[in-house]
Amino acid sequence: MKIFLDTANVESIRKYNDMGVLDGITTNPTLLSKEQGPPEEIMKTIVSMVKGPVSLEVIGTESVHMIEEAHYLKKYGQNVIVKIPMIPEGLKALKTLSSEGISTNVTLVFSANQALLAAKAGATYVSPFIGRLDDIGHNGMAIVKSIVSIFRNYQLKTQVLVASIRHPDHVVQAAEIGADVVTLPPDILGKMMKHPLTEKGLEAFLSDWEKIRNESPRLTK
Ligand code: G3P
Repeated sequence: MKIFLDTANVESIRKYNDMGVLDGITTNPTLLSKEQGPPEEIMKTIVSMVKGPVSLEVIGTESVHMIEEAHYLKKYGQNVIVKIPMIPEGLKALKTLSSEGISTNVTLVFSANQALLAAKAGATYVSPFIGRLDDIGHNGMAIVKSIVSIFRNYQLKTQVLVASIRHPDHVVQAAEIGADVVTLPPDILGKMMKHPLTEKGLEAFLSDWEKIRNESPRLTK
């Protein structure tokens, strides 16, 4: 399963990129609004610093505008994935963009039927928002399970990108279901790496090493 970072924060992207765990980035207008500076510059910086796919969202709500914006955003780099909202005009735009070979990520997907239609229209990725479904008392992960099973039944090539993740356990569940990608806020990726027993164990190893360090002066610490 691929791991994307769901952020427009360049520092967070740099931090996790250096660890070699990042396969790509997803952004949206809300995430960009949290950062300082012109959004276009931020998007260009992200596209240039990451090798993998970077999702950038269109603002237009009519297919003609979405297509124009997609052509514009694609000029930022080959790795740009154009994020299209799951609305009827979005499906229309998808048809054209997929025939042009432009990769897309259909966002704001809240049902298996929406995912099926996006896949039929040629989406590269569909993004079910599981946390927002959980927030209103639905079962977000059940939708992911359903989408993965439908795409398998009909050998649809569209990848399932699990978004709106709120907890590290969502990542485990998405992997068990067989989702293709999860996109994570930086704090969730940070939590995935940590375990109190790892910290406790390392502390004990280092303090025991102190007792014998003089016998191996070339090793640090
Ligand atoms: O990339 C969009 C998605 O992950 C949004 O998450 O936390 O705003 O529901 P959230």
